[in-house]
Amino acid sequence: MSGKEYPDPTIRQKPIHRGDPTSRNKGNVFTWLTCFVFVLLPIAIDAAMQGGPAPTDPGVRGGAAGAGGEIAGLSVKEAKFFDAGLDVFVAVNSVQGTIANTEAGLGPRFNLDSCGGCHAQPATGGTSPFVNPQVGVATRNGAANTVPSFITLNGPVREARFRFVDPPANTIRDGGVHDLFTITGRMDATAAILVSLTLPASQVTWFSAFPHRCSEPA
Ligand code: HEC
Repeated sequence: MSGKEYPDPTIRQKPIHRGDPTSRNKGNVFTWLTCFVFVLLPIAIDAAMQGGPAPTDPGVRGGAAGAGGEIAGLSVKEAKFFDAGLDVFVAVNSVQGTIANTEAGLGPRFNLDSCGGCHAQPATGGTSPFVNPQVGVATRNGAANTVPSFITLNGPVREARFRFVDPPANTIRDGGVHDLFTITGRMDATAAILVSLTLPASQVTWFSAFPHRCSEPA
């Protein structure tokens, strides 16, 4: 007879390895390994984790901010650049610089009157302060802006971005940051520079907010 001989299916065959002296207890070893990996190990890990200290939220870190300063090793000139940048960053702007403690340069549209107002925590250059300054600036010095629904006093500072520049065709991507407020009504906005611009709320399709996360409504 040529070719392979198949076992007679009507006769119960001996297990190939079990009891075979050349591969003793392979089946048992495999069974134990399986049992260990899939049953005992998870139980042991679970027990170990439950026995350990419960996770706790340490809360807001105390002490110095540890941020916001110059990086180490700046030359004298570099340090001067840093200081000049910081100065501009924290400067509060008004339309003409005629309001005390402000510099000229606000508007006609804006999101706030300083960089440092939004980038404030834990130090200048950082992230949202506890109180969102965008609410106050909407009507500061006579400004007549309506605070958009997504800007709240205890929420994060937010910038609005549009998906498309050409609604309703929506063929050209935008994605840039848009301004929420105008200087209209401010005591330092003269008639010549008054603008009347409204935010087309229907166009605001997603926002970016700290910490650099974007949320896109479904
Ligand atoms: C109205 C609040 C607000 C003001 C004012 C503001 N920013 Fe921001 N800034 C943000 C938000 C929100 C982001 C995150 C934007 C994003 O990820 O889409 C951001 C991001 C940045 C980033 C990118 C940081 C990173 O790690 O990717 C830089 C740099 C920056 N801002 C600089 C400035 C400067 C300079 C000014 C002033 C000219 C300024 N910002 C004013 C809110 C503000």
